[in-house]
Amino acid sequence: MITVNFIRTNNEKVQVKVPAGWTVMEAAREANLEEIPATCGGCCACGTCHVYVNNAWIDKLGEIDYNTPEQELLEYEKGYKKGISRLGCQVMLTKELDNITLHLLDNELL
Ligand code: FES
Repeated sequence: MITVNFIRTNNEKVQVKVPAGWTVMEAAREANLEEIPATCGGCCACGTCHVYVNNAWIDKLGEIDYNTPEQELLEYEKGYKKGISRLGCQVMLTKELDNITLHLLDNELL
């Protein structure tokens, strides 16, 4: 199982354990996070699974591929921050990402 730590904008931490191979978006759904409505169901079409990667995890997660639909969609997001923005539905949780920390956005930025 992979532990995922979500940090709300008020600094509340929500921790959830999910099987390896799930996505960050699926982990957020498992935790019933209202900040991640994921309205397209993981098709990389809605942007409502937008999260910020904690600085300590950027290197482990690796850089986003700038020629992907994920990057194109992110650039239209109000809260887009180059280098730390990711779409949760496009990030698969591997063993290397066990205990990852991700920050949730204010709903107004989704
Ligand atoms: Fe819609 Fe990720 S769930 S873009």
